[in-house]
Amino acid sequence: MKYEVVIPAAGQGKRMNAGKNKQFIELDGMPVIVHTMNVFEQDPECTGILLVVNPNEKDIFTKMADRYGIHKIKGLISGGSERQHSVYNGLKAASSEIVLVHDGARPFIKKNMITKLVKAASEDGAATVAVPVKDTIKRVKNSEVIETVERSSLWAVQTPQAFRLSDILAAHEEASQSGFLGTDDASLIERSGSKVHVVEGVYTNIKLTTPDDLMIAKAILESERGET
Ligand code: CTP
Ligand code: MG
Repeated sequence: MKYEVVIPAAGQGKRMNAGKNKQFIELDGMPVIVHTMNVFEQDPECTGILLVVNPNEKDIFTKMADRYGIHKIKGLISGGSERQHSVYNGLKAASSEIVLVHDGARPFIKKNMITKLVKAASEDGAATVAVPVKDTIKRVKNSEVIETVERSSLWAVQTPQAFRLSDILAAHEEASQSGFLGTDDASLIERSGSKVHVVEGVYTNIKLTTPDDLMIAKAILESERGET
């Protein structure tokens, strides 16, 4: 099933502390955002990439897409102050029935996972990739444990997340009107009372967030090289 993908890449990468947007950090000689876009570039089901960027960085992204042969970018859209605003701007430029949202900073997503997710969304309306939590999670306040949360039902949510475009647009509109800020897009659908299907993903689909994630990224790339 065909889909478009909104890729938010308009953040500042503060926690990465790289002195630049973490999308531009090179892994195996290629910027993170190019690794991410390549997966969609090479998926025949993907009909367009809506890349959401900081307006000051549009030129850099345009040049990068040219240089690395990314041809599916349908629009370079200006981001907002929060991720949710950036995604909303991207969604407004989308036109396919099914739309994916995928973080620019998650370069290890694989086509087979995207295919599963798109299928789930086309059947159930909304779907997210997630993995079971491995750690024991405790709620802590003022350095004291309040409770140990039952782990068996806890999942760490990743992107991509897939939606019917009309549903996710309506959910963003509602969130924007009521001033709700979620940390992912599926939560906006949950608010509307609709179901979000979970597709079990893999632990290597990490988001590059802090400097230690770059060490893990190198190890993932190395192991992928060994497998091919
Ligand atoms: N993002 C965005 N617009 C924002 C904030 C984030 O498009 N206003 C994007 C980021 O570029 C990233 C994704 O959303 O691809 C996930 O966000 P996060 O990991 O938090 O990235 P940053 O916001 O860049 O990092 P930090 O929070 O450490 O500053
Ligand atoms: Mg952020």
